[in-house]
Amino acid sequence: MLQDVITGTGDATRWQDFVVPQCWNDFTAEDHAVWDLLFARQVELLGSRVVSPFLDGIDLLRLSHPGVPDVDGLNALLTPRTGWRVVAVPGLVPDQAFFAMLSERVFPVGNFIRARDQLDYLEAPDCFHDMFGHIPMLAHHDFAEMAEHIGRLGLAAIAAGQGEKVARIYWHSVEFGLGQEGGELKILGAGLASSFGEAHFSLESDAVERLPFSVERAVNTPYKHDAFQPRYLVSASLEETIAEVGGLTSERLLAL
Ligand SMILES: [Fe+2]
Repeated sequence: MLQDVITGTGDATRWQDFVVPQCWNDFTAEDHAVWDLLFARQVELLGSRVVSPFLDGIDLLRLSHPGVPDVDGLNALLTPRTGWRVVAVPGLVPDQAFFAMLSERVFPVGNFIRARDQLDYLEAPDCFHDMFGHIPMLAHHDFAEMAEHIGRLGLAAIAAGQGEKVARIYWHSVEFGLGQEGGELKILGAGLASSFGEAHFSLESDAVERLPFSVERAVNTPYKHDAFQPRYLVSASLEETIAEVGGLTSERLLAL
C-alpha cells in the first residue's frame, strides 16, 4: 500500500532493500484462522458488488485455499500469467521504492496479519489487505499493465517533485476507486474490497460524493488515509480507466 507521505526525490535506496523473507512457517494456527475468518467474511460481504476481474483473480490465484497464502505459491500462479510477483515487506514501503517495485511488476505484501481482536482496525496494511485486496486484480492482463505504468509515472512524478499527483491517481483508482460494470456500481479498489466497513459504505452511503473518474479530477482530489473517504471517484468502466491511466504520459501528468 502507498505510504501517505510523499518522501521527495533524494532517496537512493533500492526497493530490494525493503524486501524480507515471508517466513510463512512462522504464521501460527491463529494467524491462519484469522485469515480464514477475514476471507470468508469479506467474500460473503462483497458478493457480486466488486468488479468481476477481482472475483476471477480470487479463483485464478486460488486465494480461497485455507490459510495465509505463501508468497512462493502465489507467484507460481501469478507470475506465469501476467509477469507480476509478490514480495514480502515488514510494513509500509516509501513511495519511491513502492513505485520502483510497481515499475518492475513487483507488489509488496505485509509479512504479518492483524490480530483477531483487531479485525477491523489497521494501523498498517497487513497481508490480508495486500493479498486479498490487491493481488487478484494483478491477474488481469490490462490492469497489470496499468499498474506497471503507474509505477513508471510515480517515479517520474517524484523526480519532478510532484509525487502527490500519482499518489492521488493511485488512491482514487487502485485503492479506493468505484466503477460501473453492467449498469451497476461496483467496488474497484483494494482498500474497499478488503474493508468490512467501507465496502458497503462506499456503495450505499448518502453522505458521500461520487464523482466521475478522470485523471484530472483524481490529481485534484485530496484523500483521507485515516478515515472513510468523503468522496469516491467512479470509473465509467474498468476498461476506460485502464485506458485513461495507461495512456497518461509523464509529460501530461506533470502539466496537470
Ligand atoms: Fe493498498
